[in-house]
Amino acid sequence: MLVVDGLTCRFGAKAAVDNASFSIMPGSFVGVIGRSGAGKSTLLRSINRLSPVSGGRILFKDVDVTALRGRELRQWRARSAMIFQQFNLVGRLDVLTNVLMGRLAHIPSWRSLAQLWPGQDVAVALSALEQFDMAALAAQRADQLSGGQQQRVAIARALVQEPELILADEPIASLDPRNTKIVMDALLRINKHFGITVICNLHSLDLARGYCDRLIGMATGRVVFDDVPAALTPQIARELYDLEADEVMDATLPSPAETVPTLGQAAVA
Ligand SMILES: Nc1ncnc2c1ncn2[C@@H]1O[C@H](COP(=O)(O)OP(=O)(O)OP(=O)(O)O)[C@@H](O)[C@H]1O
Ligand SMILES: [Mg+2]
Repeated sequence: MLVVDGLTCRFGAKAAVDNASFSIMPGSFVGVIGRSGAGKSTLLRSINRLSPVSGGRILFKDVDVTALRGRELRQWRARSAMIFQQFNLVGRLDVLTNVLMGRLAHIPSWRSLAQLWPGQDVAVALSALEQFDMAALAAQRADQLSGGQQQRVAIARALVQEPELILADEPIASLDPRNTKIVMDALLRINKHFGITVICNLHSLDLARGYCDRLIGMATGRVVFDDVPAALTPQIARELYDLEADEVMDATLPSPAETVPTLGQAAVA
């Protein structure tokens, strides 16, 4: 279980996350919602320890994540994979190598520096690409792919990390509706098939309602809503989003796959 207890993240005098507390059960698909500047990215980044924590604690299975340093911190970052809006692939490298980067925590650094990837890791990476229909593009340079394809590579890279937690910061913000659905369905499949907890920042309320089993609403750094999607009334949504409410409640957005397809071969050995 992930426990966030009185978490505060300050940038100067401003608290981007202000005394946030919640716990997340393993296997949940949690959406973090709220208007621009509410603190959603800072919350996710602080869980991964990319943003500095000013107060409070983050606990994962009784490990005090906020106290980790050095090698243990690197191990935590491998256990909690981040997925970013801008994909963060290495554009000049091919797709397969980008996915293999997710194995870095599992193999000796001299092997990765010499590009001597163990055959088993290559098989795991190719299998992960296959899950998202990307194996045929394994040799292509990452910067030659469309946005949706790049995000699928980023998700494959996260999956081969064998994380226990995936932190996705607006993973579909720069994608069209078709690729939005492909990427959200990919996250849902990982969550349901591998039982990996997903925490996903989303701007669109309809997507959050459609895919998540729980929503955490933030406003000016504080957690102001924490419940199942059905409990989010239009009134609360309006309070959460203020003038942006009509923009985020877009009925034309895609809904998740009716059933979660069973994955053929497990991507993670
Ligand atoms: N590195 C930083 N330095 C200074 N201020 C920051 C930094 N990162 C975030 N902030 C501030 O913290 C607040 C929360 O930002 P954050 O990016 O977490 O919001 P968000 O909910 O993710 O917004 P958006 O929906 O636009 O992505 C904002 O006021 C932002 O300006
Ligand atoms: Mg953000």
